[in-house]
Amino acid sequence: MNYKIRHAEPADAFGLHVILTSPHVVQGSMRLPYMRLKNTEDRLSADPNMVQIVAEDDGKVIGFAELVLHHQIPRAAHAAELNMVVTHGERQGEGIARSLIEELIRLCDGFFRIRRLSLIVWVDNTRAIKLYKHLGFEEEGCMRDYVRTEDGYSDALQMARMFAG
Ligand SMILES: CC(C)(COP(=O)(O)OP(=O)(O)OC[C@H]1O[C@@H](n2cnc3c(N)ncnc32)[C@H](O)[C@@H]1OP(=O)(O)O)[C@@H](O)C(=O)NCCC(=O)NCCS
Repeated sequence: MNYKIRHAEPADAFGLHVILTSPHVVQGSMRLPYMRLKNTEDRLSADPNMVQIVAEDDGKVIGFAELVLHHQIPRAAHAAELNMVVTHGERQGEGIARSLIEELIRLCDGFFRIRRLSLIVWVDNTRAIKLYKHLGFEEEGCMRDYVRTEDGYSDALQMARMFAG
């Protein structure tokens, strides 16, 4: 692994913005092709309910993953969401997303005592779905016409990974 994983910092905003406005990310997310840099800067502002990690190679952001926690809601504190996982378009297929998700799973399993980690993924995102299944996520249901695409609508899968204990 020739990159390091660390928490995201405000200074990562521009590098992350380049990834978040890439065509493959727009296709796999709710994002639009043109978004202000401020949108990404705001995303990286401190939030105690978010864990945002990046993969960095030689000072460049090449991957990002975001975990949403609900510690302030007593009856939902056991549940978390994998809100966003992205890899730079030129670095896909190197295991970067897998490393980022494995790190968040490790945190969920240990420090955060999470029982349920869920996510939503568009049904045609076979690369992401394959990865999630390899990491223990299971399909829970299909949500029809969940997201507008450039030329229609796409269904979305609800997936979750349960933890023992
Ligand atoms: C989905 C995404 C995060 C995967 O990132 P990545 O760093 O390429 O993922 P990895 O290299 O860790 O590999 C992911 C899996 O895809 C598989 N894979 C690799 N290249 C592939 C390819 N060309 N086609 C299909 N699957 C492929 C790998 O086998 C791997 O599965 P495994 O390790 O469990 O066997 C990345 O493609 C991306 O940023 N997509 C746009 C944003 C997005 O859709 N995010 C998910 C929203 S729910």
